[in-house]
Amino acid sequence: MAPRSTRPGPQAPPARTAYGEDALIVCDRLVRIYTADGIEVQALQGLDLLVSEGELTALVGPSGSGKSTLVNILAGLDAPTAGSVRVAETDLAGMSARERLTYRRKTIGFIWQQTSRNLLPYLTGQQNVTLPMRFGRVGRRDRRSRATELLEILSVAHCADRTPGQMSGGEQQRTAIAVAIANRPQVLLADEPTGELDSATAADVFGALRTVNAETGVTVLIVTHDSAVSAQVRRTVAIRDGRTSVETLRQTTTDEHGRATHHMVEYAVLDRAGRLQLPREMTQPLGMRDRVRLESEPDHIGVWPDASGAAGTAAGTARTVGAAGTAGTVGAAGTAATTGEEA
Ligand SMILES: Nc1ncnc2c1ncn2[C@@H]1O[C@H](COP(=O)(O)OP(=O)(O)OP(=O)(O)O)[C@@H](O)[C@H]1O
Ligand SMILES: [Mg+2]
Repeated sequence: MAPRSTRPGPQAPPARTAYGEDALIVCDRLVRIYTADGIEVQALQGLDLLVSEGELTALVGPSGSGKSTLVNILAGLDAPTAGSVRVAETDLAGMSARERLTYRRKTIGFIWQQTSRNLLPYLTGQQNVTLPMRFGRVGRRDRRSRATELLEILSVAHCADRTPGQMSGGEQQRTAIAVAIANRPQVLLADEPTGELDSATAADVFGALRTVNAETGVTVLIVTHDSAVSAQVRRTVAIRDGRTSVETLRQTTTDEHGRATHHMVEYAVLDRAGRLQLPREMTQPLGMRDRVRLESEPDHIGVWPDASGAAGTAAGTARTVGAAGTAGTVGAAGTAATTGEEA
């Protein structure tokens, strides 16, 4: 097999577009290093992420994987150490303090995990929702009608005259969503918005986020520990050690009776440099370590353990991962599992 770099392509390569040209959120090799007491923590290690306008995406990952770090950067609350980040045509690395404030007010809506942090305790639900619109210079009558409309969309119209102390945790978070989108931001960010709620209430809040995404078109990115969320959103991105690693897409197929079935399809992320992280559950049983052999097939790429005997215990037991795994089948269905639940 000729090295890929020197092999002539069958046709001229397609015209290259700039990375993330059409995306609303573009993270390009994002790095964030914290230094505390002389010790460096690399919270983001060259993270790439593209989110299109109108998408509803969940971001999952173990504690300490860099989720909050990423969301704080996207919210304009923190700046990356290296790499570039663009949201709605705004380059977040090069903003002045004034631009940052405008960005946070106009482009981004934010929901914190702590219900008490999202709403002012001495204002009613209605007043909490109208407040950001006062800063946004919306007229009094428009403020009132939009607040009423938003509280209705989020099924918390009954909380209009209650203060947060008179609302349940779920009602507070749904009111917080209304506050966050009051000024029609392009992006709604939520860091563990259901972290303090029980699972039934959490499902309500996810439902509310889905509703605002569908009804207002706002792009939504939710950080969550709740693994059940991937059944609720179309796209789940897993982050591990400060990089995006695996994506799960919920795909719908319709059978001959017109019945829709949802499949969860897992994809490995292929980064800009063409790097692919092979899941350990797949590499370990085959003794894949240090290096693997690749073979190009017409519709997939085969990945074999190193057969030279230098590494691995399963050397020589060649197997095409492409047929069943995620490694060789980027673009074709990977590890599909049918869930069958309704949309
Ligand atoms: N201000 C800070 N100073 C130093 N280190 C930090 C700081 N904030 C975060 N870190 C470190 O950066 C890494 C990523 O933290 P981050 O808060 O982004 O993780 P996370 O994925 O949100 O975790 P969790 O699920 O627990 O909220 C961790 O190792 C954390 O200890
Ligand atoms: Mg966090």
